[in-house]
Amino acid sequence: MPVANPDSPMQVTPTASSQPERSGAPALHTGARGRPADRGAVFEAIKRGEPFATVTHAAAATEEAVLDIRGFDLWYGASRALWNVGMRVPRGKVTALIGPSGCGKSTLLRSVNRLNDLVDGVRVGGDMLLNGDPIYGSGVDVIELRKRIGMVFQKPNPFPMSIFENVVYSLRIDGERDRRVLEEVCERSLVGAGLWEEVKDRLQESALRLSGGQQQRLCIARAIAAEPDVLLLDEPCSALDPIATGRIEDLIDELKGSYSVLMVTHNMQQASRTSDFTAFMYLGRLVEYGPTQDIFLNPQLAETEDYVSGRFG
Ligand SMILES: Nc1ncnc2c1ncn2[C@@H]1O[C@H](COP(=O)(O)OP(=O)(O)OP(=O)(O)O)[C@@H](O)[C@H]1O
Ligand SMILES: [Mg+2]
Repeated sequence: MPVANPDSPMQVTPTASSQPERSGAPALHTGARGRPADRGAVFEAIKRGEPFATVTHAAAATEEAVLDIRGFDLWYGASRALWNVGMRVPRGKVTALIGPSGCGKSTLLRSVNRLNDLVDGVRVGGDMLLNGDPIYGSGVDVIELRKRIGMVFQKPNPFPMSIFENVVYSLRIDGERDRRVLEEVCERSLVGAGLWEEVKDRLQESALRLSGGQQQRLCIARAIAAEPDVLLLDEPCSALDPIATGRIEDLIDELKGSYSVLMVTHNMQQASRTSDFTAFMYLGRLVEYGPTQDIFLNPQLAETEDYVSGRFG
């Protein structure tokens, strides 16, 4: 099984991204790439607290990173939630974060825009670089940092104001007064979020009157209006019905290229349909990270295969 010194900054283990195709019944993908009896050995080792090195497919290790997470640790008081997480989140692509409940997906996402700073007793180690700039470290202006990062949560959280004011909120905060600029950004962002046609005649209405799915697209419009370097989505569809979910998935697909998206999802179909890269987490560790197709069809670890095929958890 892949092991490494937990204190080593070199956590990433590039491995070949292309493997021979499997045929027929799912092959026994043994966790240690050895005997079937070793299946699950990686999880057991992690549970025992043994050092563990992420399996990162070469294609994920070499992408140009908008966000470079380097040996990142996080403790809530005495309880450790993230262990030496290292991954490069590619620019202009959609990256899905998957893993069982409580494995640290939201913690990792919240660490990117330093929302965890607001939690008492949080301590971090390692760093993250946003377009090369350290997110942690002394002298970082957290308010400015957060302007470069868009975040959308599970439950839509429109502000209690009009649709228009919701979308242009970040520009207002920056003191933009030019009505034409505000209107342009509002339309562009709502078009980008696939909501324009539904709301263009009611921009002055309260955002709280929109349906849940519309509210979530509004929150995405509000996030992209600020032209963030990276867009963080934490289970953006979990409160939505299948039709609204389909709309958001189409939207995420359309955002590819223009935006770099890091998205948490519990929905394996959603991860496989919408993302370019997938990162599998377990008990605060990044277990395997690679192109979505490889993670779903040709994972290196049996544990990853069990999780994505629903045989675990
Ligand atoms: N504010 C907090 N204070 C203390 N512990 C926390 C806090 N937030 C999260 N944790 C703990 O950190 C671990 C990771 O939680 P996190 O919410 O990041 O998991 P998750 O992968 O997003 O789970 P889910 O899929 O259920 O949303 C859990 O053990 C959780 O109990
Ligand atoms: Mg979560």
